[in-house]
Amino acid sequence: MKDKPKDPAESLYSTWTSTKVLICFLLLISFSYICYSLKLLHPYICTQQSQFPHLQSHSFVPQPNTIPPSQEPKTNISHIVFGIAASANLWPHRKNYIKLWWRPDQMRGHVWLDQPVKTESNDTLLPPFKISGDTTGFKYTNPKRRRSAIRISRIVSESFRLGMENVRWFVLGDDDTVFVAENLVRVLQKYDHNQFYYIGGTSESHLQNIRFSYNMAYGGGGIAISYPLAKTLEKMQDRCIQRYPDLYGSDDRLQACMAEIGVPLTKEKGFHQFDVYGSLFGLLAAHPVAPLVSLHHLDVVEPIFPNMDRIHALQRLELSIKLDSAGLAQQSICYDINRSWTVSVSWGYAVQIFRGISSAREIELPPRTFLNWYKKADHTSYPFNTAPVSRHACQEPFVYYLSNAIYNRSTNQTTTEYLRHQTRMPECNWKLANPSRIHKVLVLKSSDPHLWDKSPRRNCCRVSRPNRKKNGTMVIEVGECHEDEVVEVS
Ligand SMILES: *[C@@H]1O[C@H](CO)[C@@H](O)[C@H](O)[C@H]1NC(C)=O
Ligand SMILES: *[C@@H]1O[C@H](CO)[C@@H](O)[C@H](O)[C@H]1NC(C)=O
Ligand SMILES: *[C@@H]1O[C@H](CO)[C@@H](O)[C@H](O)[C@H]1NC(C)=O
Ligand SMILES: *[C@@H]1O[C@H](CO)[C@@H](O)[C@H](O)[C@H]1NC(C)=O
Repeated sequence: MKDKPKDPAESLYSTWTSTKVLICFLLLISFSYICYSLKLLHPYICTQQSQFPHLQSHSFVPQPNTIPPSQEPKTNISHIVFGIAASANLWPHRKNYIKLWWRPDQMRGHVWLDQPVKTESNDTLLPPFKISGDTTGFKYTNPKRRRSAIRISRIVSESFRLGMENVRWFVLGDDDTVFVAENLVRVLQKYDHNQFYYIGGTSESHLQNIRFSYNMAYGGGGIAISYPLAKTLEKMQDRCIQRYPDLYGSDDRLQACMAEIGVPLTKEKGFHQFDVYGSLFGLLAAHPVAPLVSLHHLDVVEPIFPNMDRIHALQRLELSIKLDSAGLAQQSICYDINRSWTVSVSWGYAVQIFRGISSAREIELPPRTFLNWYKKADHTSYPFNTAPVSRHACQEPFVYYLSNAIYNRSTNQTTTEYLRHQTRMPECNWKLANPSRIHKVLVLKSSDPHLWDKSPRRNCCRVSRPNRKKNGTMVIEVGECHEDEVVEVS
């Protein structure tokens, strides 16, 4: 058998194989020479060398001096430069919002003011100040006479000109914007900072979006601009601003320039302009399935927790942010079947108990606890679906607000505690258990920092069996849904 002559087809094959090897070899050699010459021109070209590991041993192939985007370290807080728009007259009050979220040891950026302000000893907890460049030479013809809009619009270019190193994103916000920094990073990690991106959110009021634009990132909700886009913008922004003297604000001026560059808005649902009046409860109790990135207009809306001032209310929310920022205000919906109640958890913020079994498609809609920016409660005012606060007197929710949040080392879980908000409830003649006997709700949850690395899905919640000794307390477990777990009554 050994001496069997070679199959002609086989020998043909091996000849072909050796020819192929030779061609490949020549191709690879020339490829590496081309790479070598091109790399001098542009460092990203030919950085796929790992596909040809043997080439790397050739001494004439230099190691890449720039890491390709796919292998770059993930974006973290140090890659962001914040530009916060402020004015000297509101500064003594507004700076307290910035102190809530600013971490001087980790974050970079500046507060851009119209004129110098007095600094106090504890202001080291704030970003450094900059005085914006003079804008008296720019035209402004809008009847609202808010010339500061030009100054604020230019913050991104002025920040760029500081020439800071290792910047991937410029993030703009107002002095009454509170950012959830971890969630901002989570959102920006999804985008390639080497490309042009203009990221933010639109207004909650449909008429505002008609008047300004659905294509515009509203400044107070926060605007993220990738480094290369800021670089291009910086070169043309001053000329661009002169073309739109009749616009009102800083963010519409920015959008006008984005339109000239040709970069559309990338909408992210967690940036909140909050162009509303009244209570944010509805918007926070039924938040979209997206990381909560920012809160704005905090001087306009009611404090986010009742019977507290605005700053203390936000400090309470910080308890949840510290424990599990990814899960902040994430809704889960479940039933207490024995008592025929529907439970909605907005993790780290509030819990609602409704009499009766309502479907998930109803409970996921924000109840209209707020008015639009023109002070109307009209359901056609919003560019998203909303629901009435209650459909029937018996369905008015019992609301429990966050009172405490702790981490339990032995179980590696968080426990958040919510206390009943005592309001007079309408008379109800349904023969169902009355949730008013529940004074406190405890929610147990494992923190899930990788929640947003997965496709968006609400968490599931499960009501624990009532404990006879703790009659007035309801215990709820929140976590990833089990396989095939859905919100249903079987
Ligand atoms: C952020 O990423 C850079 C790499 O670009 C790294 O050097 C730095 O340690 C990271 N910082 C944090 C806070 O993770
Ligand atoms: C900062 O200092 C001012 C006056 O010195 C004081 O009124 C204020 O309470 C201080 N704030 C904090 C957060 O310590
Ligand atoms: C605690 O839980 C988190 C996820 O929620 C996990 O990443 C971590 O490894 C756990 N720690 C311990 C000590 O089990
Ligand atoms: C509901 O009632 C059943 C039967 O009485 C009991 O086994 C179960 O634990 C109860 N579940 C809850 C959540 O109360």
